[in-house]
Amino acid sequence: MKLLVLGGTVFLGRHVVNEALARGHEVTIYSRGLHGTPHPDVEQVIGDRADVTPLRGRAWDAAIDTSGMTPAQLRGSASLDLGHYVFVSSCNVYPDWPERPVDEDSRTWQDGEGYGQDKAASERVGSEAMDGRFATVRAGLIVGRHDNIFRLPWWVRRIAQGGRVPAPGAPDRPIQIIDARDLAAFCLRLAEERTSGAFNGTGPIGQTTWGELLAAAGDAELVWIPDEQLVEAKVQEWTELPMWLPADAYPGTWRIGTANAQAAGLTTRPVADTVEDIREWLQTGGEREIGDYRAELRPPDMSSEREAALLQLV
Ligand SMILES: NC(=O)c1ccc[n+]([C@@H]2O[C@H](COP(=O)([O-])OP(=O)(O)OC[C@H]3O[C@@H](n4cnc5c(N)ncnc54)[C@H](OP(=O)(O)O)[C@@H]3O)[C@@H](O)[C@H]2O)c1
Repeated sequence: MKLLVLGGTVFLGRHVVNEALARGHEVTIYSRGLHGTPHPDVEQVIGDRADVTPLRGRAWDAAIDTSGMTPAQLRGSASLDLGHYVFVSSCNVYPDWPERPVDEDSRTWQDGEGYGQDKAASERVGSEAMDGRFATVRAGLIVGRHDNIFRLPWWVRRIAQGGRVPAPGAPDRPIQIIDARDLAAFCLRLAEERTSGAFNGTGPIGQTTWGELLAAAGDAELVWIPDEQLVEAKVQEWTELPMWLPADAYPGTWRIGTANAQAAGLTTRPVADTVEDIREWLQTGGEREIGDYRAELRPPDMSSEREAALLQLV
């Protein structure tokens, strides 16, 4: 298959490229040439999503779009000569998430501005333009090597340092993640089988627990701190202890239904496999590789004073 990857050099896009090449596809990537590392075995076309002229006059069997953020970008790319279109979207398209559980039939943003609203509007533009040849994959928490947002790597790195580690909530609390390799394989499958529709791209509800996930990272002593105490200590939601949201305020966070995705072939590997891959990536210079790109989105390191203060809460 001739495959166009819109993006393809930083995190998920690299996994898509690797998987596509492993499956024998002929890959073209489109990006500005500013960030990341293009695979040596792909054709790289340089250009901005704002003007896809460099891609006109050619045809691809399918596109996988890991970089689309706005309807204007989708208007351009969905007007290209493409057999099928797989758009990487986000669970942020659901206004109810993370306050309430969602599934693939939940309502999506119909107006407004912001990341989720723009992704939802982009989905509409894509599905109208591609008419029955468009799949949107609403990704949950994507994890794995090359993760420049560094949420799960933050935990893997901290636990590898050992000692007593503040852990949020309780070990039996569920969490859902998606290994970028599994998400990439799913996107490829949708492209190969020309499947259309909306799919939640994450592990199944109850996939794993915080206890299982963090224990896979090493032998540090995990000190579980109940939500109430974390809230009282003004622990920044989602970033200070990465991936943590208070369960009472956000009961839908880890209840993302994936029935349609599973029926369409999404499979997810054991989380220990993901954690092991991240550990190996960190040991071989992962942090150096991501440099400063999107550093403002990354969870900050926790000072030893702050960590000690949190550990004293229980
Ligand atoms: N991380 C998560 O947990 C999460 C959750 C839900 C959804 N998502 C979605 O998953 C996708 C993953 O992104 P990724 O960074 O891993 O993908 P990626 O394809 O590995 O990297 C982004 C690519 O887009 C290119 N790009 C950015 N702006 C561009 C522009 N204006 N014109 C042309 N190319 C442009 C970048 O290269 P240049 O900068 O060189 O152009 C880079 O190649 C995103 O759509 C994100 O919204 C992520």
